[in-house]
Amino acid sequence: MTSTADVAVIGGSGLYSLLDGAREVRVETPYGPPSDAVTVGQVAGRRVAFLPRHGRDHRHPPHLIPYRANLWALRSLGVRRILAPCAVGGLRADLGPGTFVLPDQLVDRTSGRERSFVESGAVHVNFADPYCPAVRRAVHETADTIGIPLTGTGTVVVIDGPRFSTRAESRWYAAAGGTVINMTGAPEAALARELALCYAAIALVTDLDAGVDGEHGVTQEEVFRVFKDNTERMRGLLLATIANLPAERTCPCPDTLDGMQPAYLIP
Ligand code: ADE
Repeated sequence: MTSTADVAVIGGSGLYSLLDGAREVRVETPYGPPSDAVTVGQVAGRRVAFLPRHGRDHRHPPHLIPYRANLWALRSLGVRRILAPCAVGGLRADLGPGTFVLPDQLVDRTSGRERSFVESGAVHVNFADPYCPAVRRAVHETADTIGIPLTGTGTVVVIDGPRFSTRAESRWYAAAGGTVINMTGAPEAALARELALCYAAIALVTDLDAGVDGEHGVTQEEVFRVFKDNTERMRGLLLATIANLPAERTCPCPDTLDGMQPAYLIP
């Protein structure tokens, strides 16, 4: 069995495996080891790689995830399209726990993370639309087909964590136009773009963030519990979406680096 793949899923909190009978591949990268071994298997005739973002035992907290190694490892296996499920907090009262959101924008409020492969030269990728339109469309159409209600747009605010936000921070993010909030959406999406990969986040709301919730604020316990309760729905959406991805990449993502000379991709 080959260890290459063309589609990958980067699993978030509570999603530590995806494929039965998959082959485990250990990958080394110029940026160190990824979060864990990658498992590679087959879904609807497609070679699919799975990488648990936090590691199988959830050993990497969000601000210390080896994001560059993760993206590099997947690309080195041949992956060109990535589905990125993640747990998020709702910044609007109508987005309660259990809601699926397909973000179309993000605001990166993180700092101090290794956020780019660019270490020399002029490589300024277009990131106006941070998610691949074709993969987003496939997710949306699949959710409609299998009957998973999905909020089709939204802005993810990405904070460093690992603590949750204060009520004032949370209200501020909501007032600034944020729809949902999490700790891992950046720099993952930007690194995927720097490798000219297609990437789409699929957000599952696990809690109402502190500025929306009038009572206890956010607890880790509820985030993990709600994600776990919805793991099978997320898994179903991921597997069905993989089967529905278009055969060819006709989106702008493959052309991202046209006219640039990214030293990191030229040995
Ligand atoms: N991940 C899940 N819920 C979250 C929240 N409320 N804030 C930040 N990250 C989260």
